[in-house]
Amino acid sequence: MTITIDELCDRLGITQAILEEEFRGRQASYDLQAKWYDRRSLPSTKAVAPIVCEQLQSVETAVELGAGTGLRVLYYALNNPTTQFLAIDNDRNATDILKERVRKLRVPNLRVQTKDMYDLKDKYAAVIALDCFFYPSEDDAITQWGASCMHFGRLVDTSQDKAFFCVPFYDQLGSRYEMTEPYAVSVFQEVGLRQLDAMPFEFVQRDDTRWSGRMLLARP
Ligand SMILES: C[S@@+](CC[C@H](N)C(=O)[O-])C[C@H]1O[C@@H](n2cnc3c(N)ncnc32)[C@H](O)[C@@H]1O
Repeated sequence: MTITIDELCDRLGITQAILEEEFRGRQASYDLQAKWYDRRSLPSTKAVAPIVCEQLQSVETAVELGAGTGLRVLYYALNNPTTQFLAIDNDRNATDILKERVRKLRVPNLRVQTKDMYDLKDKYAAVIALDCFFYPSEDDAITQWGASCMHFGRLVDTSQDKAFFCVPFYDQLGSRYEMTEPYAVSVFQEVGLRQLDAMPFEFVQRDDTRWSGRMLLARP
């Protein structure tokens, strides 16, 4: 690896202490909010990002959907300099921060776009969907998850070597939404992604709750 997650956090100022009061309440700058978010999600980033990063080796093109302020996609791009990345988010505040981070760290293989990920048309060897699906109603969250996976699974350029779609499957949410791996398999098969690898991860959140799951990697 060219850069570790800790080194990246140092370079972005994420590891500096950010007090709750600085973030909460009155108008914290978006930059501060981004650092706060990155720090809070660091346990999960450290569990899932290396799994995805390794899969990206020698992949030509990749898109990160709902990339936010991009700590994870920066980590992928810096460690996979021959892969061309697109990070997309519909929140301009987030993409402005990410563009600034790209400039600061000089990451020539990462492009950032502000737009609705559901409007994407082009295909990519790797399509990365981490924590970016939101459901208007919890009642049929599992159906909506399946519909999103099918929609974005179709963006995988199956003609390319090492093509994949990846999405995490959290055990906690699986039981809440009655989501099973056989259901996931059926969803991916529908869009021609017939091979499913499931790579386990676990982490302890900052509030001490233990999370576990598998990174689902669906391939042609
Ligand atoms: C929880 S953040 C996850 C960020 C990043 N994927 C990660 O793994 O750290 C979810 C992001 O998805 C973005 N998002 C949600 N719906 C979107 C849409 N339809 N198009 C583009 N971005 C979207 C939000 O703006 C937010 O920045």
